[in-house]
Amino acid sequence: MGRIVQATPEAIEEAATIIRQGGLVAFPTETVYGLGANALDATAASRIFEVKRRPAFDPLIVHVRGQAMLQEVAAEVPERARTLIGRFWPGPLTLVLPRRPKVPSVVTAGLPTVAVREPSHPVASELIRRAGVPVAAPSANPFGRLSPTRAEHVARYFGEGVDLILDAGRTPHGIESTIVSVLNERVVVLRLGAVPIEEIEAVVGPVELARPVDRPTAPGQLPSHYAPATPLRIARPEEIGQEERRRAGYLAFRDVPEDGFAAVRVLSPHGDVREAAARLFDLLHELDALGLEAIYAEPVPEEGLGRAIMDRLRRASLRAS
Ligand code: TXA
Ligand code: MG
Repeated sequence: MGRIVQATPEAIEEAATIIRQGGLVAFPTETVYGLGANALDATAASRIFEVKRRPAFDPLIVHVRGQAMLQEVAAEVPERARTLIGRFWPGPLTLVLPRRPKVPSVVTAGLPTVAVREPSHPVASELIRRAGVPVAAPSANPFGRLSPTRAEHVARYFGEGVDLILDAGRTPHGIESTIVSVLNERVVVLRLGAVPIEEIEAVVGPVELARPVDRPTAPGQLPSHYAPATPLRIARPEEIGQEERRRAGYLAFRDVPEDGFAAVRVLSPHGDVREAAARLFDLLHELDALGLEAIYAEPVPEEGLGRAIMDRLRRASLRAS
């Protein structure tokens, strides 16, 4: 298994050195664990694609710290992007902006744009500061699988494929960043995520929502994604027969369903979508590890973070293969 170390200052320093030397480091962010490499080193960045078995058309997010590093990768920061940065950075909002030529095209999958965010997690932030370079990092899971919310998930996924895994426990938001493209002052949400659309609209007014497509200019929009190994379906308990229940796990929103399931996990006993989002992938990993025949997930209210949760559940329930 990949070496897991507590994210002490010494370990972060070692991780920063590995990144500067072209290696791969998994690290916690406030959303999910990322699989990071020097974003300005094309060879290092291509290793991310190999390890994740990620198709070359799916570009990476570049993690920065501070305005100077942002300017290093983005050719232009439109007014409305500045407004969003002022309100949400550091934090779980990714902006798609015109790129500078020095960002290797492997990172941007040949697009004229680059996705950038400044993470607020202290370990991520310190890692970027010490590395002194922007860090390209997708979520640290094999392509199409559940995102990792714990260092152990990363170790299980990648074994020796990663040089070092920094462990800081479970990630606080537990769901990926919201991705917004801001080109020519037009704001389009490409992926629902940890910042609810309502909060973005409160700052920049009404935004457009991109629809999932097969071969995205802006993936994360792939229809099938975030899937556990166990087949997942969205269903209320009453829709599931007794026989099926005995071989299935249930991911409930608030209330524990009448028994009969092989295993039950509850997203939020308080019925709070924020708490539910934070626990979503974590509990799916737990249910997935039980090796059951199926996982059923209860629909959650589609408001605020509930929209991002339902987006992930729908994609997880569509299996490409
Ligand atoms: O919360 C997060 O965003 C986590 C942490 C590690 O920061 N990262 C993450 O990365 O979720 P990833 O690779 O799993 O998802 C990044 C998404 C991909 O779907 C990719 O297609 C999209 O960002 N993306 C990257 N560059 C883009 C670009 N230039 N235009 C449109 N979409 C882009
Ligand atoms: Mg991902």
